[in-house]
Amino acid sequence: MKKVKWGIIGAGGIADRRTMPGIELAENAEIYAVMEIDMAMSEKLREKYKAAKAYDNEADLLADSEVEAVYIASPVVHHKRQAMAAADAGKHILLEKPIALTVDEGKEVIDYCKSKGILLATGFMMRYHAYHQAMKKMVEEGKMGQIVSCRAQLTCWYPDMPGNWRQAMATSGGGALMDMGVHCLDLIQYITGSKAKRAAGMTSTLTFEYEVEDSGALLIELENGAICHVESNFNIPDAAARGRLEIYGTKGSMLAEGTISQAEGGKLEVMISDDSLEYDAQQNNNNVEPIKIDVEFGNMYTKEIESFSNSILNGATVEVPAEDAVQVQNVIQSAYRATENETYERF
Ligand SMILES: NC(=O)c1ccc[n+]([C@@H]2O[C@H](COP(=O)([O-])OP(=O)(O)OC[C@H]3O[C@@H](n4cnc5c(N)ncnc54)[C@H](O)[C@@H]3O)[C@@H](O)[C@H]2O)c1
Repeated sequence: MKKVKWGIIGAGGIADRRTMPGIELAENAEIYAVMEIDMAMSEKLREKYKAAKAYDNEADLLADSEVEAVYIASPVVHHKRQAMAAADAGKHILLEKPIALTVDEGKEVIDYCKSKGILLATGFMMRYHAYHQAMKKMVEEGKMGQIVSCRAQLTCWYPDMPGNWRQAMATSGGGALMDMGVHCLDLIQYITGSKAKRAAGMTSTLTFEYEVEDSGALLIELENGAICHVESNFNIPDAAARGRLEIYGTKGSMLAEGTISQAEGGKLEVMISDDSLEYDAQQNNNNVEPIKIDVEFGNMYTKEIESFSNSILNGATVEVPAEDAVQVQNVIQSAYRATENETYERF
């Protein structure tokens, strides 16, 4: 099978932790070149992944005519410049979330790539989790009835690290919600097939000294009417977190734990209530046994890369277009606007 030759820009972070190991398993992709800002580190990664080339700047990687597509996983502040340079060089782009510091910059990147005929996807790889696919299918088949409520939570422990790009607005574009809440909102919208139409959000920096929020939440009404909740925190210990994803409808619920994660795994409980749905004054709710959902776990990053490589090689529709990342970012940014403008009632 023909393999897309990938160049990796910002190869030392999530690229090394997850995405490049995922590319190694892909049938239609190979790591051809890596780029890190330090040549020794770049060379080390080249060796580790048996890539042909190591570079210490994006211009040289982009000038390499063998590179067909780039995965950009650098700090967010560099995304716009690097994506536009990649488009100039004729490389297709998988650009990590958020695709730029702001919605406006994200739109500029999208328009620029379009004008150059470049395919542009984003890194919402959690859509490929086997449980998330199964949940989406159950909603589509009407097994949940009318979707009325969803909740998604992603947290981590992220203490003060002076100079860290994620902790300053000018280099990250936002804190816990922008970094992790984007996955939560994207999954809710993906699984329910319905996008946010109204949102109210709140952010705060409760625990740490940095500028961006370490705590944030959004209340969202979807186009289908469901009222949903997204929660993201940088101040909950990893050992205490469960990464919950809950979808409730008029016929049942799907309760996932540990699926909003970088590793494909976790648990999923599905309850379907086939009773006559008459009012039960006793509120008996313990007579519904969870349904077992059989899935085969894989590697979300491999599936992400295989899907986009298939778009490049065979013209398949881009499954996670950058437009989706900008739409999600716009909703997330509404929490920042609400916090800044104090559009709340105070008690
Ligand atoms: N989808 C996911 O699973 C996932 C997970 C984590 C991070 N991310 C995203 O990936 C991006 C990077 O996050 P991270 O956690 O890997 O950050 P990181 O800080 O761990 O790694 C970023 C890497 O980029 C390098 N770098 C710095 N300046 C650069 C430049 N000018 N050009 C190229 N590389 C440069 C750094 O040396 C570092 O190795 C962010 O957009 C983040 O939101 C996605």
